[in-house]
Amino acid sequence: MRVNLTVNGRATAADDVWEGESLLYVLRERLGLPGAKNACEQGECGSCTVYLDGTPVCACLVAAGQAEGREVVTVEGLSRGGTPFPDAGPAHGDVSGEGLHEVQRAFLDAGAVQCGFCTPGLVVQAHALLAEADGVPPDADIREALAGNLCRCTGYEKILDAVRLAATRLRPPP
Ligand code: FES
Ligand code: FES
Repeated sequence: MRVNLTVNGRATAADDVWEGESLLYVLRERLGLPGAKNACEQGECGSCTVYLDGTPVCACLVAAGQAEGREVVTVEGLSRGGTPFPDAGPAHGDVSGEGLHEVQRAFLDAGAVQCGFCTPGLVVQAHALLAEADGVPPDADIREALAGNLCRCTGYEKILDAVRLAATRLRPPP
């Protein structure tokens, strides 16, 4: 079947999609967007988190057909002038990091990335948290928001640092 969807602001379609195929598979294997990671593929780790119509979801749990007519934003789409698709032009080749979203930049600056497998999911989830937050959220709120995102490397403290840093940069104290 064909699935029509909007990904990172661009209308697109995936052809020959199998009925049991996940949105994660479509993004990674058919649309060439490897940001969302496939770790558990069972909704347990959060590494595949993307926005679906503005709500963070585990893309591994969304059937491709469910994405018909809907809007997906991946971690690639968060950066300014981001990377809608790998063939979209010069932005794809930009490794300077200048276009990174504040949340993405904060993960780098806070040293919250080790192997990086969990990072795209954490970035999307943190982005969603901070979109609603007024200032730096309490640690309990950050932990709760990120509870579905597993990291086996960092011990989470640097991830909390990154979220606090991003919150400060997004809404500097008056
Ligand atoms: S790969 Fe989707 S939750 Fe782990
Ligand atoms: S940085 Fe390796 S799993 Fe989180």
